[in-house]
Amino acid sequence: MQVFLQLGLGLVLLAAQYASDGAVPGSQCQRQCGKVDIPYPFGIGLNCSLARAFNINCEVQDGFPKPFLGDFEVLSISLTHGTTQVLNYIVGFCYNTSTGIMESFGRYTGYAGRPSSPYRLSDLQNRFTVIGCNALALISDNNGSGYQGLGVATCRDQSDLVDGSCSGIGCSQTMIPKRMYNYGTTFSNLVNTSEIWEFNRCSYAVLMEAATFNFSTTYINTTGFNDTNDGRVPMVLDWAIRDQKSCNIATQNKTGTYACLSSNSVCVDSVNDDGYICNCSEGYRGNPYLPVGCQDVDECSRNPCPSGGVCHNTVGGYLCSCRAGRKLEGNTCNPDTGLIIGVTMGLFGVMVVAVIIVFWGQMIIQKKKFKKVKQEYFRQHGGLLLFDRMKSEKGLAFTVFSEAELIHATSNFDNSKILGKGGHGTVYKGVINNKKQVAVKRCALVDERQKKEFGQEMLILSQINHKNIVKLLGCCLEVEVPILVYEFVLNGTLFELIHGKNQALQISFSTLLRIAHEAAEGLSFLHSYASTPIIHGDVKTSNILLDENYMAKVSDFGASILAPTDKEQFVTMVQGTCGYLDPEYMQTCQLTDKSDVYSFGVILLEILTGQLPLKLEGSETQRSLSSVFLSAMKENNLDAVLVSHVKGQESMELLRGLADLAKNCLDMCGDNRPSMKEVADELNRLRKLSLHPWVRLNVETDAESLLSGESTGGYEIELSGYPMGESENQPINPRSSYYAR
Ligand SMILES: *[C@@H]1O[C@H](CO)[C@@H](O)[C@H](O)[C@H]1NC(C)=O
Ligand SMILES: *[C@@H]1O[C@H](CO)[C@@H](O)[C@H](O)[C@H]1NC(C)=O
Ligand SMILES: *[C@@H]1O[C@H](CO)[C@@H](O)[C@H](O)[C@H]1NC(C)=O
Ligand SMILES: *[C@@H]1O[C@H](CO)[C@@H](O)[C@H](O)[C@H]1NC(C)=O
Ligand SMILES: *[C@@H]1O[C@H](CO)[C@@H](O)[C@H](O)[C@H]1NC(C)=O
Ligand SMILES: *[C@@H]1O[C@H](CO)[C@@H](O)[C@H](O)[C@H]1NC(C)=O
Ligand SMILES: *[C@@H]1O[C@H](CO)[C@@H](O)[C@H](O)[C@H]1NC(C)=O
Ligand SMILES: *[C@@H]1O[C@H](CO)[C@@H](O)[C@H](O)[C@H]1NC(C)=O
Ligand SMILES: *[C@@H]1O[C@H](CO)[C@@H](O)[C@H](O)[C@H]1NC(C)=O
Repeated sequence: MQVFLQLGLGLVLLAAQYASDGAVPGSQCQRQCGKVDIPYPFGIGLNCSLARAFNINCEVQDGFPKPFLGDFEVLSISLTHGTTQVLNYIVGFCYNTSTGIMESFGRYTGYAGRPSSPYRLSDLQNRFTVIGCNALALISDNNGSGYQGLGVATCRDQSDLVDGSCSGIGCSQTMIPKRMYNYGTTFSNLVNTSEIWEFNRCSYAVLMEAATFNFSTTYINTTGFNDTNDGRVPMVLDWAIRDQKSCNIATQNKTGTYACLSSNSVCVDSVNDDGYICNCSEGYRGNPYLPVGCQDVDECSRNPCPSGGVCHNTVGGYLCSCRAGRKLEGNTCNPDTGLIIGVTMGLFGVMVVAVIIVFWGQMIIQKKKFKKVKQEYFRQHGGLLLFDRMKSEKGLAFTVFSEAELIHATSNFDNSKILGKGGHGTVYKGVINNKKQVAVKRCALVDERQKKEFGQEMLILSQINHKNIVKLLGCCLEVEVPILVYEFVLNGTLFELIHGKNQALQISFSTLLRIAHEAAEGLSFLHSYASTPIIHGDVKTSNILLDENYMAKVSDFGASILAPTDKEQFVTMVQGTCGYLDPEYMQTCQLTDKSDVYSFGVILLEILTGQLPLKLEGSETQRSLSSVFLSAMKENNLDAVLVSHVKGQESMELLRGLADLAKNCLDMCGDNRPSMKEVADELNRLRKLSLHPWVRLNVETDAESLLSGESTGGYEIELSGYPMGESENQPINPRSSYYAR
């Protein structure tokens, strides 16, 4: 069998394990409007795009949903080219036969963007197109203060005009410069159609996509051009991530964010002004802006091999081979007769074949060796290799710390700096660069399995970016026990809030409810993060941290594993915490997303009852909070278990709703429990019950003002800058600060 190599082999390592549909930032987000795909970083609605400037409005017009960017209808968005095709408005300048004056038609105001906007008018694909026989139009930048192009079209009469020709006679096309983010159109009064109106009453001008234009002589008389095109024609906008000037800066800037989250993605400098776009590497296809967006292309599906050849898909490429007894000659697999060819030709052929065979054989041997070595390393170092790969791609706002730095940060892991201790390691408080507070987790590394976990935790956490999940900032590899560095979350845990000394006295029930809701959102995000859900595995109140605004941040993925796919992984040691453990897990030893839901149900109980999940004193049946609660529910005696100060304050409807939700979460059978997403939605609904009417009003007004931020009146479109408008340098963070809270 002969084979020849068609494309470079990608890194075969590990790609399959983490492959997913890549439905990350908001899998609940609408990704289509009418017939138009709206891929991330674009999005419809508040939480679905990379930044507000990437929002697309989906509006119903004439009974059909249509996407809009300001006043421009969007026809298509291309991730691979960084372009958005929109419909631009034709403007006209016409002689009025009854009044004898020239009148303007169409929407004149032009297009107003901003330097911080992702969009630029494409200089490569657009032409400023002017149609008429006595027409002089100008295209301007900067509010009309500077003219960037001039279009002149003339003709003596209709016989001068030629279909398909646009070079000055009846039609002209001019290029525009790069870096234009706004423009307006003006017709010159010096040139008018008052004398030639009988065959050319109107002149037209528009910036439009050149490829979609073909001049027709019928455009000259009546309102031909406008009528033929419904007053609008395609125009191309170049978009890019513009908060960093170039790929070089974006990949090196540790304080900024980098949008190319997918492995197997590459960064491409913007062709129009500062900025960059992301693209999948060769041999991959998908959305490079999502953590696992770029997927291997199955080249074999369109069989690229010569006829009779057999195609083998590889990660990042493919191989062609011929069946035994045949060899690849030119573009066909021929029977291997090997004699017929002339002597010189034959010798040459044999040499080539020999070289190919030797080369291929070596490739195979090398590949096998390479793979074996890598597997060994991977087994030993728990994915350090993989981590190396991530590091080399510079795709993540992720720092590799030296041991010395961390020793300095934590005063040599001083006992006074200990924030907490757990089965998976000890967490210290640290200060990096004498200013930034961080939490440093020193893993208690005991067995091979945990070594593996380290790599996994690294991979998972470094890619996850959600406001309700503790962010991993970096790690240290120099040491035998891995050390992870997390953002420092300073206001303690939900556990302390509920069971601490001052308890719920200061903290209102609605705050607890909000925290629970946020934690549920965080967990729901994890569960929907990849096609195989990421299971937390140790959901409990002490793993829900609180930041300065008492916003919940789910922490500690020590126990988290991707849902196991092989039998070996089922036989893991029991993880989780007593009192929170899914009873079904005890029987099946299989951790599922519903195990997290069960544990979350226990958290709801703690909020409702103010009790610990497990009491060591008391009779056997009184020990477990969930059994106490469930039997109270059965006897319809909810009042008996509720924490006293809540009873008077909150509506019974809310408390009952919460109790029902908790009960559903605690169902013995995992399948009957709601999903984390459903839990989050229900909590969201219940929270509204808890808010007083005037408070609720405020919240809605806030949300509205955020939502309506980008549509200003009239035609002038504010192609808004990065979030929160004026600050152009603000890092754009997927799903961060634009929530109405
Ligand atoms: C955005 O997310 C917040 C918090 O998860 C939620 O309350 C809000 O409804 C979301 N907004 C939209 C438009 O989806
Ligand atoms: C992105 O990759 C695709 C396919 O590999 C290629 O056709 C396209 O030109 C690339 N885009 C840019 C902007 O380089
Ligand atoms: C083009 O037609 C549209 C409606 O079909 C009209 O609103 C607009 O004023 C016209 N524009 C010109 C330049 O004639
Ligand atoms: C010409 O002007 C008159 C008066 O303003 C207006 O009623 C009429 O519609 C105009 N004609 C055209 C063809 O625009
Ligand atoms: C058209 O231009 C001529 C000069 O070229 C001028 O005399 C005439 O008044 C203009 N007509 C209109 C309607 O502007
Ligand atoms: C455009 O005009 C507006 C209002 O007249 C002004 O505030 C703004 O600075 C102008 N922009 C430029 C680039 O000249
Ligand atoms: C433009 O239209 C003419 C006929 O109107 C046709 O012959 C020609 O092929 C067209 N050109 C393009 C590029 O479509
Ligand atoms: C428009 O052009 C067509 C052919 O070029 C001609 O037959 C027709 O009379 C013209 N109409 C006007 C109003 O000039
Ligand atoms: C790095 O990113 C931050 C935040 O986006 C920005 O303020 C800063 O100017 C960037 N640094 C460089 C060198 O571009």
